[in-house]
Amino acid sequence: MQGITVRSETADDIKAIDVVHLSAFEGDDEVGLVSALRESSGFRPELSLVAEFHGRIVGHVLMTPVRLQRGKDGIDILALAPMAVVPSQSHRGIGSDLVKAAIDKAREQGFSAIVVIGQPDFYQRCGFRPGSDFGISVNLPVADKLISAIEIEEGVLAEGGHVIYPSQFNHVY
Ligand SMILES: CC(C)(COP(=O)(O)OP(=O)(O)OC[C@H]1O[C@@H](n2cnc3c(N)ncnc32)[C@H](O)[C@@H]1OP(=O)(O)O)[C@@H](O)C(=O)NCCC(=O)NCCS
Repeated sequence: MQGITVRSETADDIKAIDVVHLSAFEGDDEVGLVSALRESSGFRPELSLVAEFHGRIVGHVLMTPVRLQRGKDGIDILALAPMAVVPSQSHRGIGSDLVKAAIDKAREQGFSAIVVIGQPDFYQRCGFRPGSDFGISVNLPVADKLISAIEIEEGVLAEGGHVIYPSQFNHVY
Protein backbone atom coordinates (compact mmCIF):
# COMPACT_ATOMS: atom_id res chain seq x y z
CA MET A 1 0.00 0.00 0.00
CA GLN A 2 1.22 3.52 -0.76
CA GLY A 3 2.82 5.29 2.19
CA ILE A 4 3.60 2.06 4.03
CA THR A 5 7.16 1.30 5.09
CA VAL A 6 8.06 -2.22 6.20
CA ARG A 7 11.25 -2.62 8.21
CA SER A 8 12.78 -4.82 10.90
CA GLU A 9 11.92 -4.01 14.52
CA THR A 10 14.12 -2.01 16.87
CA ALA A 11 14.04 -1.97 20.67
CA ASP A 12 11.96 1.23 20.51
CA ASP A 13 9.14 -0.61 18.71
CA ILE A 14 8.39 -3.24 21.34
CA LYS A 15 5.49 -1.45 23.08
CA ALA A 16 3.91 -0.42 19.77
CA ILE A 17 4.10 -4.02 18.54
CA ASP A 18 2.26 -5.18 21.68
CA VAL A 19 -0.46 -2.60 21.00
CA VAL A 20 -0.90 -3.91 17.44
CA HIS A 21 -1.50 -7.46 18.69
CA LEU A 22 -3.75 -6.37 21.56
CA SER A 23 -5.92 -4.41 19.12
CA ALA A 24 -6.10 -7.14 16.46
CA PHE A 25 -6.57 -10.27 18.61
CA GLU A 26 -8.92 -11.07 21.46
CA GLY A 27 -6.88 -11.39 24.64
CA ASP A 28 -3.14 -11.16 25.12
CA ASP A 29 -1.93 -14.60 24.00
CA GLU A 30 -0.14 -13.18 20.97
CA VAL A 31 1.55 -10.44 23.02
CA GLY A 32 2.76 -13.19 25.36
CA LEU A 33 3.93 -15.27 22.41
CA VAL A 34 5.93 -12.40 20.91
CA SER A 35 7.54 -11.63 24.30
CA ALA A 36 8.38 -15.29 24.92
CA LEU A 37 9.86 -15.71 21.44
CA ARG A 38 11.82 -12.48 21.79
CA GLU A 39 13.47 -13.94 24.89
CA SER A 40 14.16 -17.29 23.20
CA SER A 41 17.45 -18.35 21.65
CA GLY A 42 15.93 -18.54 18.15
CA PHE A 43 14.85 -14.88 18.11
CA ARG A 44 16.32 -12.76 15.33
CA PRO A 45 15.17 -9.11 15.29
CA GLU A 46 15.69 -8.88 11.53
CA LEU A 47 12.89 -11.47 11.15
CA SER A 48 10.46 -9.29 13.12
CA LEU A 49 8.93 -6.82 10.67
CA VAL A 50 6.81 -3.76 11.39
CA ALA A 51 4.60 -1.82 8.98
CA GLU A 52 4.78 1.93 9.54
CA PHE A 53 2.18 4.40 8.25
CA HIS A 54 2.74 8.12 8.87
CA GLY A 55 5.26 7.26 11.58
CA ARG A 56 2.87 4.93 13.44
CA ILE A 57 3.29 1.17 13.68
CA VAL A 58 0.12 -0.37 12.24
CA GLY A 59 1.19 -3.96 11.59
CA HIS A 60 3.65 -6.60 12.68
CA VAL A 61 4.79 -10.04 11.59
CA LEU A 62 7.29 -12.29 13.30
CA MET A 63 9.16 -15.23 11.83
CA THR A 64 10.98 -17.84 13.92
CA PRO A 65 13.34 -20.60 12.77
CA VAL A 66 11.77 -24.05 13.20
CA ARG A 67 12.90 -27.55 12.30
CA LEU A 68 11.20 -29.37 9.44
CA GLN A 69 11.87 -32.98 10.36
CA ARG A 70 12.14 -35.72 7.77
CA GLY A 71 12.92 -39.00 9.45
CA LYS A 72 16.30 -38.60 11.10
CA ASP A 73 17.16 -35.56 8.98
CA GLY A 74 15.62 -32.18 8.57
CA ILE A 75 16.10 -28.58 7.52
CA ASP A 76 15.59 -25.26 9.25
CA ILE A 77 12.73 -23.24 7.80
CA LEU A 78 10.74 -20.29 9.17
CA ALA A 79 7.39 -20.22 10.95
CA LEU A 80 5.40 -17.04 10.39
CA ALA A 81 3.47 -16.08 13.55
CA PRO A 82 1.98 -14.05 14.91
CA MET A 83 0.87 -11.49 12.37
CA ALA A 84 -1.54 -8.61 12.83
CA VAL A 85 -2.70 -5.30 11.42
CA VAL A 86 -4.57 -2.77 13.59
CA PRO A 87 -8.32 -3.03 12.82
CA SER A 88 -8.57 0.65 11.80
CA GLN A 89 -6.11 0.01 8.95
CA SER A 90 -7.13 -3.49 7.88
CA HIS A 91 -8.38 -4.42 4.38
CA ARG A 92 -6.09 -1.88 2.75
CA GLY A 93 -3.33 -4.25 1.67
CA ILE A 94 -1.01 -3.78 4.66
CA GLY A 95 -1.23 -7.44 5.68
CA SER A 96 -0.37 -8.52 2.14
CA ASP A 97 2.55 -6.05 2.08
CA LEU A 98 3.84 -7.55 5.35
CA VAL A 99 3.62 -11.11 4.02
CA LYS A 100 5.45 -10.14 0.80
CA ALA A 101 8.14 -8.37 2.84
CA ALA A 102 8.43 -11.43 5.10
CA ILE A 103 9.00 -13.69 2.09
CA ASP A 104 11.66 -11.29 0.75
CA LYS A 105 13.35 -11.12 4.16
CA ALA A 106 13.34 -14.91 4.52
CA ARG A 107 14.96 -15.22 1.08
CA GLU A 108 17.53 -12.53 1.94
CA GLN A 109 18.40 -14.37 5.16
CA GLY A 110 18.94 -17.63 3.31
CA PHE A 111 15.81 -19.55 4.38
CA SER A 112 14.26 -21.88 1.83
CA ALA A 113 10.63 -22.09 3.03
CA ILE A 114 8.02 -20.60 5.37
CA VAL A 115 5.16 -22.35 7.18
CA VAL A 116 2.12 -20.61 8.68
CA ILE A 117 -0.99 -21.64 10.63
CA GLY A 118 -4.29 -19.79 10.11
CA GLN A 119 -6.45 -17.95 7.55
CA PRO A 120 -5.56 -20.13 4.50
CA ASP A 121 -7.38 -17.86 2.01
CA PHE A 122 -5.34 -14.85 3.06
CA TYR A 123 -1.95 -16.58 2.96
CA GLN A 124 -2.70 -18.52 -0.19
CA ARG A 125 -3.50 -15.25 -1.97
CA CYS A 126 0.04 -14.22 -1.01
CA GLY A 127 1.61 -17.24 -2.73
CA PHE A 128 1.39 -19.87 0.03
CA ARG A 129 -0.09 -23.30 -0.76
CA PRO A 130 -1.98 -25.74 1.45
CA GLY A 131 0.45 -27.65 3.68
CA SER A 132 -1.29 -30.85 2.54
CA ASP A 133 -0.01 -30.19 -1.02
CA PHE A 134 3.48 -30.76 0.37
CA GLY A 135 2.63 -33.36 3.02
CA ILE A 136 3.49 -31.02 5.87
CA SER A 137 2.23 -31.63 9.42
CA VAL A 138 2.95 -29.71 12.63
CA ASN A 139 3.45 -30.64 16.31
CA LEU A 140 0.50 -28.44 17.38
CA PRO A 141 -3.20 -29.39 17.75
CA VAL A 142 -4.49 -27.57 14.65
CA ALA A 143 -6.59 -28.71 11.70
CA ASP A 144 -4.52 -29.64 8.63
CA LYS A 145 -6.46 -27.17 6.47
CA LEU A 146 -5.07 -24.28 8.57
CA ILE A 147 -1.48 -25.11 7.59
CA SER A 148 0.01 -23.31 4.59
CA ALA A 149 3.55 -23.15 3.30
CA ILE A 150 5.63 -21.50 0.61
CA GLU A 151 8.80 -22.69 -1.05
CA ILE A 152 11.40 -19.99 -1.50
CA GLU A 153 13.77 -22.52 -2.99
CA GLU A 154 11.81 -24.48 -5.55
CA GLY A 155 11.27 -28.13 -4.64
CA VAL A 156 12.57 -27.80 -1.07
CA LEU A 157 9.25 -28.97 0.43
CA ALA A 158 8.67 -31.77 -2.06
CA GLU A 159 9.47 -34.43 0.54
CA GLY A 160 7.06 -32.92 3.10
CA GLY A 161 7.89 -33.30 6.77
CA HIS A 162 6.83 -32.55 10.33
CA VAL A 163 7.36 -29.00 11.64
CA ILE A 164 8.55 -28.72 15.23
CA TYR A 165 7.24 -25.46 16.66
CA PRO A 166 9.07 -24.41 19.86
CA SER A 167 7.22 -24.80 23.17
CA GLN A 168 6.32 -21.10 23.33
CA PHE A 169 3.58 -21.83 20.77
CA ASN A 170 1.84 -24.40 23.00
CA HIS A 171 0.00 -21.68 24.91
CA VAL A 172 -1.56 -20.16 21.78
CA TYR A 173 -2.72 -23.23 19.83
C1 LIG B 1 -5.31 -11.12 8.90
C2 LIG B 1 -4.79 -9.69 8.86
C3 LIG B 1 -3.34 -9.67 9.30
C4 LIG B 1 -4.89 -9.19 7.42
O1 LIG B 1 -4.37 -7.86 7.37
P1 LIG B 1 -4.94 -6.80 6.29
O2 LIG B 1 -4.07 -5.61 6.32
O3 LIG B 1 -6.38 -6.61 6.51
O4 LIG B 1 -4.70 -7.64 4.97
P2 LIG B 1 -4.99 -7.16 3.47
O5 LIG B 1 -5.63 -5.82 3.46
O6 LIG B 1 -3.74 -7.33 2.72
O7 LIG B 1 -6.00 -8.26 3.00
C5 LIG B 1 -7.21 -8.45 3.73
C6 LIG B 1 -8.39 -8.21 2.84
O8 LIG B 1 -8.40 -6.88 2.33
C7 LIG B 1 -8.52 -6.94 0.91
N1 LIG B 1 -7.76 -5.81 0.40
C8 LIG B 1 -6.43 -5.74 0.23
N2 LIG B 1 -6.09 -4.55 -0.28
C9 LIG B 1 -7.24 -3.85 -0.40
C10 LIG B 1 -7.52 -2.56 -0.85
N3 LIG B 1 -6.58 -1.73 -1.29
N4 LIG B 1 -8.81 -2.16 -0.83
C11 LIG B 1 -9.77 -2.98 -0.37
N5 LIG B 1 -9.55 -4.23 0.06
C12 LIG B 1 -8.29 -4.66 0.05
C13 LIG B 1 -7.96 -8.25 0.51
O9 LIG B 1 -8.43 -8.72 -0.73
C14 LIG B 1 -8.44 -9.10 1.64
O10 LIG B 1 -9.76 -9.45 1.43
P3 LIG B 1 -10.54 -10.53 2.29
O11 LIG B 1 -11.66 -9.78 2.91
O12 LIG B 1 -10.97 -11.55 1.31
O13 LIG B 1 -9.59 -11.08 3.32
C15 LIG B 1 -5.61 -8.76 9.77
O14 LIG B 1 -6.96 -8.81 9.37
C16 LIG B 1 -5.53 -9.09 11.24
O15 LIG B 1 -4.67 -8.59 11.93
N6 LIG B 1 -6.47 -9.90 11.73
C17 LIG B 1 -6.54 -10.23 13.15
C18 LIG B 1 -5.37 -11.05 13.58
C19 LIG B 1 -5.21 -12.29 12.74
O16 LIG B 1 -6.15 -13.01 12.50
N7 LIG B 1 -3.95 -12.54 12.31
C20 LIG B 1 -3.62 -13.63 11.42
C21 LIG B 1 -3.54 -14.89 12.16
S1 LIG B 1 -3.31 -16.22 11.01
